[in-house]
Amino acid sequence: MILLNDYFVNREEVTIDIEDRGYQFGDGVYEVVRVYNKQLFALQEHMERLKNSAKEVCLKLPSDLKKIENKIRQLVKENNLEDGIVYIQITRGVAQRVHNFPGNTTPTLVAYTIKLNKPIENIANGVKTKLVEDIRWLRCDIKSLNLLGNVLAKQKAKDSHCFEAILFRKNLGAKENIVTEGTSTNVFIVKDHIIYTHPTTSLILNGITRQKVLDLIANLSLQVMEETFSTEEITSADEVFITSTTDEITPVIQIDKVIINKGIPGPITKQIQKEFKNLLPEPTYS
Ligand code: PDD
Repeated sequence: MILLNDYFVNREEVTIDIEDRGYQFGDGVYEVVRVYNKQLFALQEHMERLKNSAKEVCLKLPSDLKKIENKIRQLVKENNLEDGIVYIQITRGVAQRVHNFPGNTTPTLVAYTIKLNKPIENIANGVKTKLVEDIRWLRCDIKSLNLLGNVLAKQKAKDSHCFEAILFRKNLGAKENIVTEGTSTNVFIVKDHIIYTHPTTSLILNGITRQKVLDLIANLSLQVMEETFSTEEITSADEVFITSTTDEITPVIQIDKVIINKGIPGPITKQIQKEFKNLLPEPTYS
């Protein structure tokens, strides 16, 4: 079943108008929430971020957040989803094509589930990555539907047989070649036992997994700095890992031609992976 606005419908019954602003302008916002053992992980945090993204693009939510949250829970039950994701998107709705907000449109909410198995191999063995210039707009903190910059970078990575592109801004005032994030992940490095990740500015999405990792690091006796680092610093790091709802905590073992930590996941990355696993819902056997 698909959740279309207030109703659960079959996929064949869903029609998207050619003048939906999400379709024409990417005028909307989205979230991806993980389901483990039939349970939604960090749903509230994702809902809060959805609300903030909508607010930042002056998009009125179709109903209050609690109601959307309940519908999402119901969707997971309806579809009997055990492990996978829920994709939720809200667009500004349907109107004759004008660039400015067209006035009285009703937002379109679509949510559906996708079965997904844990990317066990990547998590265990790590992935190769490619440095790609970050050419996206300057409000990457908004989870907007406009993902062309991310799509182009990810394709560059794929063309080089890499799993992810690590994005960097060429010029940021006095600083050059600052690593921001991945195309759909946040980036962490470890150098001399200190963990670094880009601070929460408008140049990155403040990932829910990123926040969970920062919380669990705070509970371990590890030091973390939310500070920028350059392409040079990431390629000379002791360990590198990326985080996201779908990729969890994935070690990076290569960046372009540079091998990280002899090509195997590092000890701090593994420690964080272990702690993260403890946060995930256990099977319910219901
Ligand atoms: N992407 N940075 C970007 C640009 C992202 O698109 C994402 C998530 C993240 C990680 O955020 P989180 O930990 O909340 O998943 C960081 C989702 C998974 C996607 O677009 O599929």
